[in-house]
Amino acid sequence: MVDSLVCNALVDKLPLGICVLDRDFNISYWNSFFADRMDMPSDVVLGRNILELFQDEASFLKKKLKSVLVLNNPSFSYWEHRPHIFKFKSSRPITGEETLMYQNMEIVPLQIVDGEVQSICLILQDVTALAGYFNAQKELALQLEAEHAEQRALINKLEMAQGQLLQAEKMASIGQLAAGVAHEINNPIGFINSNLQSLKDYVANLLKIVEFSEKVIDKATPDAYHKLKADFYERQQYRFIRQDITELVSECLEGTSRVAAIVKNLKSFSHVDNSEWQYADVRDGMENTLKIVNNQLKYKVTVHRDYDEPLPQLYCQPMQLNQVFMNLLVNAAQAIEHNGDIYISMKCHEQGVRVAIRDTGSGIEPRHLDKIFDPFFTTKPVGSGTGLGLSLSYSIVQKHQGQIAVTSERGKGTEFTITLPMLTEQQVAEKEQQARNAAPHLAE
Ligand SMILES: Nc1ncnc2c1ncn2[C@@H]1O[C@H](COP(=O)(O)OP(=O)(O)OP(=O)(O)O)[C@@H](O)[C@H]1O
Ligand SMILES: [Mg+2]
Repeated sequence: MVDSLVCNALVDKLPLGICVLDRDFNISYWNSFFADRMDMPSDVVLGRNILELFQDEASFLKKKLKSVLVLNNPSFSYWEHRPHIFKFKSSRPITGEETLMYQNMEIVPLQIVDGEVQSICLILQDVTALAGYFNAQKELALQLEAEHAEQRALINKLEMAQGQLLQAEKMASIGQLAAGVAHEINNPIGFINSNLQSLKDYVANLLKIVEFSEKVIDKATPDAYHKLKADFYERQQYRFIRQDITELVSECLEGTSRVAAIVKNLKSFSHVDNSEWQYADVRDGMENTLKIVNNQLKYKVTVHRDYDEPLPQLYCQPMQLNQVFMNLLVNAAQAIEHNGDIYISMKCHEQGVRVAIRDTGSGIEPRHLDKIFDPFFTTKPVGSGTGLGLSLSYSIVQKHQGQIAVTSERGKGTEFTITLPMLTEQQVAEKEQQARNAAPHLAE
């Protein structure tokens, strides 16, 4: 059996704050834990109201104490929600470093007479070490999360760079192929076209000759021959041929001019046609291009401009950049069925320029997004799109050390963003050298 003196000593020495209160919250007992930290021995505080002693947290304490009186149930407060009810210090066991004490508090009904709580016991537990551990873990988790996010961003960047590299390689090999094909097609299409032009004139002349001969036959020969001639003409389908032959030649000419346009695209795609490198204002280029495509825009598109003033002059191939703007603007206009908007923004960006062209058109299907820069990829009907516009634009932007990206939402619209950097002096010198090397070849 442990006697009550030992019991008292034990409670006094517990590593817990223990304080007993009456129904008015006056202190009837408090152990050394409280006495030491408040520097107030037990006999000084006995009979004093706890709410007066701890005025800072009086209203919170009062609420908690009252709830025990009314509900006759224990009440808790955890450090995570209210870490420092009593502003006590706590020192770390190893380092001795002092911090404000993190506490768990429990208030329990102690004596209950006729169902009414007569006294309450408040128990305070120092959980600073535990809280420190949890907080350190939390900080570590946050750090890890931040590192993770950084890594994820890095991986995304790497994937993008890899994608751009793959695309660049694809472009380079297709560029060579295209240059060859363009060259091979260019010659035959040239003579087919000029022969067809001659053929068109010849056909017109021949028709005139036949017409004249017909009239002469009709006049100069007896009627019996007329019937013979009419039968022969009919058997040879003269009327039909006469009507169809001009159309056929015109269609052929239209076909060859379409092929010639494809060849022209292929040539600029493979950079056979190089426009000059120079310092230029890309905004002027955009405005000129807008004038050229105005016909395709004016009836259905409202163009909104947002340009930084001034924009830096870039060392570039202005004609080629215009070609990019044109491809993007025409695509945007084609994606708008009835009425819509095109938003063009040109902003200073890390010393260079960032151009964005956004439309409120049909948008691009997600499954097409990684194909649109591929040569010959088109969703347009046969004959109306070659599918070279974007691949050409991609390789032009790449040649300018820039980047082109797309975001699109089906039914909402599409945005193409081009970042064009300001070339370093060394890069400018390299481009000038390349142009000098290419000049004799172009002159050939
Ligand atoms: N702004 C846009 N809105 C919706 N789809 C687009 C847009 N821009 C491009 N596309 C899609 O990308 C495809 C490829 O575009 P690209 O300009 O390379 O070729 P094209 O427009 O089909 O043909 P071309 O430019 O040779 O006339 C288009 O067929 C279209 O499906
Ligand atoms: Mg296009």
